[in-house]
Amino acid sequence: MCGIAGYIGKKDAKNFLLNALKKLEYRGYDSAGIVILSEKKDLNCAKSVGKIKDLEKKISKIDLSGKSGIAHTRWATHGSPTEINAHPHHDCQKEIFVAHNGIIENYKSLRADLEKLGHKFISETDTEVISHLVESNFKGNIEEAVLNSLKQMKGAYAIAVISKHDPDKIVVAKKSSPLVIGVGVGENFIASDASAIIGYTDKIIYLDDDELGIITSNNYKIISTISENNIEKKQCKLELEEYEIQKGGHKYFLFKEIFEGPEVVKNSVRGRIVSEAGLVKLGGLEVLDQQRLRKINRIIIIACGTANYAGKVGEYMIEEYAGIPVEVEIASEFRYRKPIIDSQTAVIAISQSGETADTLASIQEAKRKGALVLGIVNTVGSTIARETDAGIYNHAGSEISVASTKAFISQIIVLALLTVYLGRTREMSLVTGKRLTDEIKKLPKLMKKILNSCSEIEKLAKKYSAYRNFFFLGRKYNYPIACEGALKLKEIANTIHAEGYAGGEMKHGPIAMIDENFPCFFIAPRDSVYEKMWSNMEEVKARGGQIIAITTEGNKEIENLADDVIYIPKTLEMLTPILTAVPLHLFAAYMGIELGLDIDQPRNLAKSVTVE
Ligand code: M6R
Repeated sequence: MCGIAGYIGKKDAKNFLLNALKKLEYRGYDSAGIVILSEKKDLNCAKSVGKIKDLEKKISKIDLSGKSGIAHTRWATHGSPTEINAHPHHDCQKEIFVAHNGIIENYKSLRADLEKLGHKFISETDTEVISHLVESNFKGNIEEAVLNSLKQMKGAYAIAVISKHDPDKIVVAKKSSPLVIGVGVGENFIASDASAIIGYTDKIIYLDDDELGIITSNNYKIISTISENNIEKKQCKLELEEYEIQKGGHKYFLFKEIFEGPEVVKNSVRGRIVSEAGLVKLGGLEVLDQQRLRKINRIIIIACGTANYAGKVGEYMIEEYAGIPVEVEIASEFRYRKPIIDSQTAVIAISQSGETADTLASIQEAKRKGALVLGIVNTVGSTIARETDAGIYNHAGSEISVASTKAFISQIIVLALLTVYLGRTREMSLVTGKRLTDEIKKLPKLMKKILNSCSEIEKLAKKYSAYRNFFFLGRKYNYPIACEGALKLKEIANTIHAEGYAGGEMKHGPIAMIDENFPCFFIAPRDSVYEKMWSNMEEVKARGGQIIAITTEGNKEIENLADDVIYIPKTLEMLTPILTAVPLHLFAAYMGIELGLDIDQPRNLAKSVTVE
């Protein structure tokens, strides 16, 4: 989603700002802009629709030199992706510029009031209101003007403000949208995502909600926007390495990340299994009152999109092996329901980015109701990681491609570990604990085997690239994987329509659509529901549908029924989703390539969805 960058120091601001915007590209955007304060104290701005390279082209024709500036990548919410709607936005005199992530909910009434005062608006955005509001509150000191403006604004924001009247500072503020300050020597950096600052400094300050920062080249000051008192903030060390966000020999981040799967599993598991005792150690949960954890008698998993499907796999695992009832909720629904929660309920939020607005709001709601709130988060130091009572990091490394693949795999692994962790403090025997942990450790090798036969999946993508509709069907542990397979295909090969269903639901409606132009993926490993999946395949075959089956190695009989078969190695039923997801991720990626699409940044999508 939108990205913010800012620089103030002794060097040419443009270099950092463009670099930072490129590093933020993965979040998804449709336009970008930059404003730089020149030596003569003029604010020079350039904007462009499309990619950062389009903005660069534009900038190469004008003088944009200066030692401070702000920049933005926009993912359209209010108003279409045009240059006029791109950030940074300015006031009437073009003397105050603002870059903003989030949504100002009361922008309409603010705009109407400002227009009555004579302010002239040029864009359709909610953000432009901020620049005019700051202008109307400006009495010679930019931080005071921003502070007073924030008091009139409702909604979510991370903002960066630069003004020609108070030129030696950039003012930033945050509420519900992430913002970090990178502390350098004689220079300071601002970004909505720490990855944009990698290589410039490793000292980071995470701004919290209701905080305002005044950044100069040699200093920074943080104050509370509520009490207006100074706040002492801890500097954190930025652990991300540059190489983590490079493509590692692959043409696309998506392929790099799918092929990283086996390594990701190893990293998520490393140091967490005590083999001889069939136990799992989760350091992040050690801070909790263990008595309270033992008394948890209900779990609600909240997440969005792919993370929600991982949660669904977790539901089956935890119920079957740890014996605790689990419900999985879409965070955007949970936040507006009246959920029944008490102190024996644990709410587990799953999020790759750790910044998803709906998930964050659900966490806050669950905390208000007294739940124990845990997180399964990939991004270290992210808002969700900080907002939860305790949590488990995925250790999957930065995920850049908008479509989540390796994070999904690691979310399921972490849920498997959590299942053993919870199960072993309840009824799960040593033997079962050992069996599960032993099998988990084998997964990287099994995944590699599937990845090594990627050319088979590539051939399938070529064969089916002309089809425009697909069903994905699975049962039990592989029902969520059917949904995941369909979501990935929709996201990455976005001219194709795909739906994921529980196998048993076909006859309740969707089967009406089946004909020879409607291929169906059947995720049918040799497990407890294999026979049921077989019946579903028969039903589709009888109606002329084409079948692509994913099944367990050695299952030759399926070749009599399916048009194409993808084999996965044998593992425990509970762990099959880790293996069945791999060919589906690959299929979506190859289909995207076949269709000539931008598979790393599919249209209309954002990497971290920081607005409602
Ligand atoms: O960062 P999160 O895991 O909270 O994101 C949740 C969803 O927005 C995300 O999984 C989305 O569905 C992906 N684009 C799926 O590939």
